Amino acid sequence: MFRWRSFFVMTSLTPDELLTTTRAVRRRLDLSRPVSMDKIEQCIAVAIQAPNAGNRQQLHFVVVTDKEKRQGLAQIYRTCSESYFASTQTAVSSGSGDASKDEAIRRRFESELYLNRHLHEVPIHVIPCIVGRTDGATVAAQAARWGSIFPAVWSFMLAGRSRGLGMTFTTIHLIKEAEAANLLDIPYNAVMQAGLLPVAYAKGSRFGLGLRQSVADVIHWNGW
Ligand SMILES: Cc1cc2nc3c(=O)[nH]c(=O)nc-3n(C[C@H](O)[C@H](O)[C@H](O)COP(=O)(O)O)c2cc1C
Repeated sequence: MFRWRSFFVMTSLTPDELLTTTRAVRRRLDLSRPVSMDKIEQCIAVAIQAPNAGNRQQLHFVVVTDKEKRQGLAQIYRTCSESYFASTQTAVSSGSGDASKDEAIRRRFESELYLNRHLHEVPIHVIPCIVGRTDGATVAAQAARWGSIFPAVWSFMLAGRSRGLGMTFTTIHLIKEAEAANLLDIPYNAVMQAGLLPVAYAKGSRFGLGLRQSVADVIHWNGW
């Protein structure tokens, strides 16, 4: 039974720093340091406070610590990544002519390759799930469903960061979602997986701002 006050953490980061510097952590995952179940439960307790459509409480988190199951998930992930890596490799090799953009793409690609190779070694895999599938649903129904799980995923990531954990939100294994469902006994017809978070302690705590569009590029006052 949780007692909230007993696990609220203090972080030296301001709310804006936490929100703007929580990055995809791949190469800086500490693969040798175990993560306690207690830490994961705290992050889930924070995550389920996120907003969700109709407050219908339909979130679930499948936490995978079992070595063979993590190996199975990593195998599924690798199969799903093959064509992405092949096309990205081609893009990286040919370049776009914009040196700083090419360098950013190359760095991300290397980081993705690292995760791809080491996924089975990441001590915890978390699969956020939501009851109800969106296959063939209207945009409004899809928005309500996905919008009820992604805020919780982001809260999970922020809560992890506050506790020294690092992770990346990944979705590529969903190409073979049914295989992962089979591996983990998730009832595929009733429950939809939203991604896979490989979680470990982060090496170091300093992370910077991400490369993003400028505010001027994305803001539209009173219409598009
Ligand atoms: C919806 C979504 C799907 C993603 N899927 C993957 C993935 O399958 N594999 C991966 O390595 N990273 C994945 N990422 C992480 C992104 O590559 C990463 O967030 C992006 O490059 C920006 O980096 P930053 O989060 O450090 O700013 C995903 C991120 C999001 C939001």
